[in-house]
Amino acid sequence: MAFKYQHDLVTVADMSETEVLHKIKLAQLFKAGKRITLNRPVYAMNLFFENSTRTHTSFDMAERRLGMQVLQFDANASSVTKGETLEDTVKTIQAIGVDLAVIRHSENEYYNDLLKQNLDISIVNAGDGSGQHPSQSLLDMMTIYEEFGTFKDIKVSIIGDLNHSRVARSNMELLTRLGAKVAFAGPNQWYDDKFAKYGAHLTVDEVVQDSDVVMLLRVQKERLGDELNDFDEGKYHQKYGLTKERYATMKENSIIMHPAPVNRGVEIDSNLVESDKSRIFKQMENGMYMRMVILTDVMVAKGIVNKTDLLGVD
Ligand code: CP
Repeated sequence: MAFKYQHDLVTVADMSETEVLHKIKLAQLFKAGKRITLNRPVYAMNLFFENSTRTHTSFDMAERRLGMQVLQFDANASSVTKGETLEDTVKTIQAIGVDLAVIRHSENEYYNDLLKQNLDISIVNAGDGSGQHPSQSLLDMMTIYEEFGTFKDIKVSIIGDLNHSRVARSNMELLTRLGAKVAFAGPNQWYDDKFAKYGAHLTVDEVVQDSDVVMLLRVQKERLGDELNDFDEGKYHQKYGLTKERYATMKENSIIMHPAPVNRGVEIDSNLVESDKSRIFKQMENGMYMRMVILTDVMVAKGIVNKTDLLGVD
């Protein structure tokens, strides 16, 4: 079944299995060295209002690898510090000739007001508050698919700071749609009953032993507020982290994932970050190729890349 190439990519909420599989296949072609042609010069700008290493750098790299021109933007040196709104900032860069804005912002669904205006500039969501992180979710799907060749009945446990996590929200939604079996673990105060429709909330020991994918989440200290005063890293690690003891109980072909940055010694024992089962750096590598796909598909919708140039991929 075909899917519609979208002018903007802000959420995985309506993304079909067909589109996810298309994106994984195209990312694998990019990984194998595929190149595409842009029909005209394309200008991109990465507007990050929250800190980032992986997402920002890999979008930047993906844009350059695709032959786009990347304009620099520093939120702290921009007119946002003088009170300019996000909407006016985006309209400004559109007026200057930017084709595509990759945006990370602390406000959930910041993109709704922008999309309502049917702007020419495309919006790619690089993470909104505790809402969605579509590019992370797609690179995670790619990493799982490369490992298992399917999503059907793959058991994925998502462990830790679920409430604050846009990665968890995007992934529980997409994994379930693709046929994976999701389970959760972690502190009760970071779990919300609205996650129950995606999977059961179990103990860390239970899910680690039973999972094909143990997906750990970063404890988002910057979003904990007063809770941070009582937070004890050592206690958290023993109670909810992937310790060496828990690692020893994992299934033979199971893998560890983490969107990173990692709090070493908190959600995962530091030595396990580079363990045989860890795919944490593979996720980062896949992220660059998946972001090339996200940008390419948006450019297909804009008529800047010919669909036929994707050769063999619908
Ligand atoms: N996983 C992730 O979004 O990392 P960054 O915050 O470094 O982009």
